[in-house]
Amino acid sequence: MSRDYWEKRYRTHDMPWEKGAPSPGLVDFLSGHAQLPRGSVCVPGCGTGHDVREWARAGFEAYGADIAPGAIGLATDKTKAAGLAAKFQLADFLRAAPPFQFDWLFEHTLFCAIEPSQRDDYVRAVLRWLKPDGQYLAVNYLIPDQDGPPFGTTRDELWNRFSPHFDLLSEWVPRSYPNRTGLELMLWWRRKSRPAGIAG
Ligand SMILES: C[S@@+](CC[C@H](N)C(=O)[O-])C[C@H]1O[C@@H](n2cnc3c(N)ncnc32)[C@H](O)[C@@H]1O
Repeated sequence: MSRDYWEKRYRTHDMPWEKGAPSPGLVDFLSGHAQLPRGSVCVPGCGTGHDVREWARAGFEAYGADIAPGAIGLATDKTKAAGLAAKFQLADFLRAAPPFQFDWLFEHTLFCAIEPSQRDDYVRAVLRWLKPDGQYLAVNYLIPDQDGPPFGTTRDELWNRFSPHFDLLSEWVPRSYPNRTGLELMLWWRRKSRPAGIAG
């Protein structure tokens, strides 16, 4: 999906993913892991920035990237209004170089928003934006849809794509927005110290 496609969806307020609140799974993760060392985190495909602000509230150096100028504008305004210090950048996560490599990367409905044919690019981008020993926390949307966005995935696909590069620390079915209950799977990965190659 192109930048124009996403920008039009923001301009026309066609944003069914916009829930006005951060991912419940992220809220519970952060409150349940209060002792985690604080560091930098990037949320690619951050939309209006609810998840970025949740990481910022928890004391992380929080950063959001999105391909749509409308999303970055809304995220910046809402963050200023909330009195938080998160930063936002207009960027195509799949192609751009990161401003620096992050300690954490948080996935929430970007993997399902891109074309499935771009998923190798997505894994390469995660490896580019994350520090060598970084952590990748994902709220995965396990729906069957092939006609998206959103495009579905399975745990098997996620395992096959990420386990060559990451060790799985934990997985669980999170609390979700009401219309996604039982459809989400959280995977918490730590990047392997010896990276695997990726084809393509
Ligand atoms: C389904 S929305 C989810 C937004 C946000 N994560 C949320 O849950 O509210 C997908 C977001 O990814 C952004 N996006 C799509 N392709 C992108 C890309 N290649 N790089 C960065 N952002 C992208 C879109 O503009 C949109 O804001």
